[in-house]
Amino acid sequence: MAETLFDQDYLRDPHQVYARLRAERPVFQTATPQGVRVWVVSRYEDVKAACTDPRLSKDFTNHPHLIKANELEGGDSSGYEAVVPHNMLFVDPPDHARLRRLVGRVFTAGRVQALRPRVEQISAGLLDKVGPEFDLLRDYAVPLPAMVIGELLGIPESDWPRLIEWSNTTIEGAVLDPEEVVRAAVDFTAYLGELCEARRAEPTGDLLSAMVQAQDEAGALSQRELVDTAFLLTVAGHETTVHLIGNGMLALLRHPEQFAALRADPGLLPGAIEEFLRFDGPVSTSTLRFTKEPVTIGGTEIPQGQLVLVSFLSANRDAAQFGDPDRFDVTRAPGQHVAFGHGIHYCLGAPLARTEGAVAFGHLLERFPGLRLAVPEDRLAWRPGLLMHGLTSLPVRAS
Ligand code: HEM
Repeated sequence: MAETLFDQDYLRDPHQVYARLRAERPVFQTATPQGVRVWVVSRYEDVKAACTDPRLSKDFTNHPHLIKANELEGGDSSGYEAVVPHNMLFVDPPDHARLRRLVGRVFTAGRVQALRPRVEQISAGLLDKVGPEFDLLRDYAVPLPAMVIGELLGIPESDWPRLIEWSNTTIEGAVLDPEEVVRAAVDFTAYLGELCEARRAEPTGDLLSAMVQAQDEAGALSQRELVDTAFLLTVAGHETTVHLIGNGMLALLRHPEQFAALRADPGLLPGAIEEFLRFDGPVSTSTLRFTKEPVTIGGTEIPQGQLVLVSFLSANRDAAQFGDPDRFDVTRAPGQHVAFGHGIHYCLGAPLARTEGAVAFGHLLERFPGLRLAVPEDRLAWRPGLLMHGLTSLPVRAS
């Protein structure tokens, strides 16, 4: 089996690995830890071009065999195949617009702004419960977005612990036991299918009820698409914002002068959130794309039928786009980071994520101006997997 780029060194410091790739091998062929051959695109301009190139497809729904076809000897791609759902993230036009439109109207900036008081209430409630020493992830950054998207969708709060576990397992699928991933994906979708049926029988005014109603009225989407869209919203709605809060706070703790600047001038917060996203965003590499025909990216030809990952984390540290890119600076002028992706699959939840981030950091700075790490920095561990870039826990002390 070929060596993987995504080893322990990568998990500890992906930025160093990507700096080398951008300089030496900007379009690099490697393997996932489970032995699936992939190409990794690391330069800013190439990442953006790949995200808008129609020859790079995401339509695994109709080409599920393509993942297996890229399995190396001794590799196992079944964990991937189990989690290729029928939703907007894994289709091309025109299906993409049909599936995105259905939920797009809920995630406009205006609608999300209206949610802000509720986000503030949830945030305050969580912070009221923490003691002088707490795990910023477990006690705050994990439950906050989960409760917000849970309320929007209409998922009972008591079910969240199970959902978070299923979601973590499917997200980390490229590095876990494939059987475990398949089991989590099956249980997760069975649960959501039952919930959709309950909402069909008795609508409760939430997003899931609205989606079921749209399905009934317009026949706009199949049952599988309905359930898999709920799956996408559940996973994307909480996995990522967790690490906007976690990675952003870690950056502040590692750069006390930036923390002080933000405390002194809360007006810097909107710009600081963009800098958290650029400097150490939650999404490391994209979801998979494949070449419909041979495609040349950054001077390297990728043959037809091969899998491609673009690295948003890497693009956001590219010196060709950002001056002094490894410097964390909350006063930096906005520079078009790609933490939310690019092209038609640009993050649908970006306004919600920004609102949650603004509320979270607003409250954290106000309540805990002297926040400190409660463990030595080298004890912090990063989540496995290719998609997410985030800590497993962040123990902090209030002062
Ligand atoms: C800081 C938090 C977030 C980050 C960094 C983020 C990042 C991303 C990225 C990079 C993509 C594109 C993936 C690709 O091209 O392979 C994406 C897509 C998506 N995100 Fe987010 N996301 C965040 C929060 C959210 C939230 C709160 C939701 C709410 C439901 C959400 C829903 C989605 C959806 C539905 C898509 C698919 C869009 C499409 O295929 O058209 N995301 N996100």
